[in-house]
Amino acid sequence: MTTYEKHHCWSLLLRLFHWMFALSIVCLITTGFYINSPWTNTMIEGSSAWPMAYMRYIHFFAAYTFSSAVMIRFFLYLFGNKQERIWDILPITPRNIKNLFKTLMLYSYLSDKHDDRLGHNILAGSMYLITFFAALFMILSGFYMLYPEVSFRPEWGAEFLPEVSFWQGLGVKLFGSQQWARFLHHCMMWWFMMFAIIHVYFVIWNDIKSPEGLISSIFTGVKFKQKA
Ligand code: HEM
Ligand code: HEM
Repeated sequence: MTTYEKHHCWSLLLRLFHWMFALSIVCLITTGFYINSPWTNTMIEGSSAWPMAYMRYIHFFAAYTFSSAVMIRFFLYLFGNKQERIWDILPITPRNIKNLFKTLMLYSYLSDKHDDRLGHNILAGSMYLITFFAALFMILSGFYMLYPEVSFRPEWGAEFLPEVSFWQGLGVKLFGSQQWARFLHHCMMWWFMMFAIIHVYFVIWNDIKSPEGLISSIFTGVKFKQKA
């Protein structure tokens, strides 16, 4: 009989990050689609109904939750536990490079060897890191659309210039016009949609293939490993 032992894997903060991130993205995508192309009749918008205003309000509320989650993840990349730090997922050490190839072989059904490790596999970890940068892009483009005046506010006067000069024109420099920011913000949404679908598929697939309690670990923080 195989015996398993419990290993603490994810801190409470990481699990909090995960669910803040996942739930806010669902809200952001739904309300984002509405902002792009309102599916209710908005002819009465502003007189007796405010569906667009409500949708935008939810979008911004979720955006602040999303931004806080990203700040939490940044903190954990530097100061989290061993599995949560950035070094654990970068494909730069021989062990991690090996894990990346083993995972690719496993996912393409060319091998059935599961490389045992406590944290994320390197393929997943690298995708999470790319998603982290995509999230920064959404925050920059989103806040630029929300506060475009930060880019240009002459009435603040010269005495404020040293403090605001970094922010002044940042959105314009990064995205050109607001319309470009909006277009790119929209395009990048598709990364998150595809990521969410593939991610949920793979966590279920992994949970079936290797009995380590992967899905429950994102609720409890605990994974199970075979006793040596
Ligand atoms: C994964 C995260 C996010 C997704 C998927 C998302 C999605 C979208 C989409 C699809 C739109 C409509 C753009 C269009 O017209 O096609 C939109 C608009 C917008 N989003 Fe986001 N967004 C995200 C994060 C954020 C964040 C962090 C902010 C920061 C405040 C933000 C602020 C805005 C603003 C200001 C608009 C324009 C609203 C308007 O034109 O009335 N978004 N978003
Ligand atoms: C029912 C839905 C979901 C379940 C059961 C779930 C489960 C999990 C599990 C088990 C992990 C750890 C996997 C590993 O070790 O590689 C994880 C990580 C992650 N999930 Fe989900 N997830 C769900 C939805 C989502 C959604 C919708 C998103 C965002 C689009 C998301 C974003 C992430 C991210 C970014 C990580 C990496 C955490 C880190 O940075 O360490 N998840 N999820």
